[in-house]
Amino acid sequence: MTILWDNEPGAAERYHFALGAVDLLGSAALVHRALDEDPHADLVVIGPVVNIDEASLLVESVRADRPEVGFILLRHRLDVTTLGQALRSGFREVVASDDSTSLSDAVRRSRDLTAKISGHQGGTAAPQGRIVTVFSAKGGVGKTTLSTNIATHLAMSGVRTVLIDLDLSFGDVGISMQLMPSSSVHDAVAMSGHLDAEGLSQLVTHHQASGLDIIAAPTDPSLADRVSAQIVTELLRVAAANYEYVIVDTPPSFTEHVLAACDVSSLLVLIATLDIPAVKNLRLALETLDALGSPRDSRVIVLNRADVKVGLNPDDVVQALGVPIAVSVPASNTVPASVNRGVPLVLESPKDPVSGALREIVDTHIRARFGAPVEEPQRRSLFSRRSR
Ligand SMILES: Nc1ncnc2c1ncn2[C@@H]1O[C@H](COP(=O)(O)OP(=O)(O)O)[C@@H](O)[C@H]1O
Ligand SMILES: [Mg+2]
Repeated sequence: MTILWDNEPGAAERYHFALGAVDLLGSAALVHRALDEDPHADLVVIGPVVNIDEASLLVESVRADRPEVGFILLRHRLDVTTLGQALRSGFREVVASDDSTSLSDAVRRSRDLTAKISGHQGGTAAPQGRIVTVFSAKGGVGKTTLSTNIATHLAMSGVRTVLIDLDLSFGDVGISMQLMPSSSVHDAVAMSGHLDAEGLSQLVTHHQASGLDIIAAPTDPSLADRVSAQIVTELLRVAAANYEYVIVDTPPSFTEHVLAACDVSSLLVLIATLDIPAVKNLRLALETLDALGSPRDSRVIVLNRADVKVGLNPDDVVQALGVPIAVSVPASNTVPASVNRGVPLVLESPKDPVSGALREIVDTHIRARFGAPVEEPQRRSLFSRRSR
């Protein structure tokens, strides 16, 4: 995550071309706090209106503990004195504030340096995010609904999250979120073997309203064949090094891509519904996962449309599967309505009972499991004026 310290309105938009989404903050104290809270922060850009002495003090105080964080200073005009002071304090670059090409170049150089420094800290410095794969061997049970809402809720809680659509032939994450991605998982193929944070950022489409990043499925279904399982593994690994959570949407079968995702996932969210074929398929899926050696305690079963009256009830499902249901999500017309509007339900209707159940999956079964405290809803607005 890039932090921008600036006090001018519209600053985030002004540098958007070079910086992408930023956390726009108005003081050194807020920058300190944001760095403390976000071990993934890798770049702080300080705007031209910020006093250089205050800016230098910040850099000097952060440098020893977080050598991987890059600082770039923007000035209205460049002069030798400013340059000297900035470089002595530990800024990596000083750039004219109206020169967005130079700023883009400086950002890239800083990120490269961060990656190198992180790579030399015993291999543990790159923060390891969690990969959560949402799967069901049957179509239409709610994989895309769950994955988009889980990812959106994480992002809205201020957690750096990317949603990757591995339903490579018929993926509909982009359309469900009203996004028009200009790149997709397929673009990772050209970077095979050398995909890095910079390459990853080129695959991502940003969802402004939630702060979520997505990597869409290719628009041409025939491109799915060109994506190997290896590139999926590489993509997920690089994503996990750059995000706190990587949520994976899947097609309704154990494709080689799904198996690759299951292999590197910390958690599988498996979906059941109250119909015999879905329960049968889930049972087979559980047996397949057992046979593949996937750990049983890293699975969460969600019963979707749990309250429809169709003769089969949740107890029958538990009995047939032999595993408990973690969360039951009710059926509601608000779900397809939100998909048609292209706004995830947790964002559009947070009070809807379905939204409550979807948040429970995240708060109780994902974040609590991995030790992350569930943030107070108001925390984001109090401490970080997030511009995205
Ligand atoms: N809890 C629910 N209540 C009502 N409709 C739902 C619910 N969950 C999913 N749907 C609808 O079911 C359809 C299939 O859901 P989707 O998430 O696309 O499934 P999948 O990705 O598994 O194919 C969509 O039209 C979606 O709006
Ligand atoms: Mg789907």
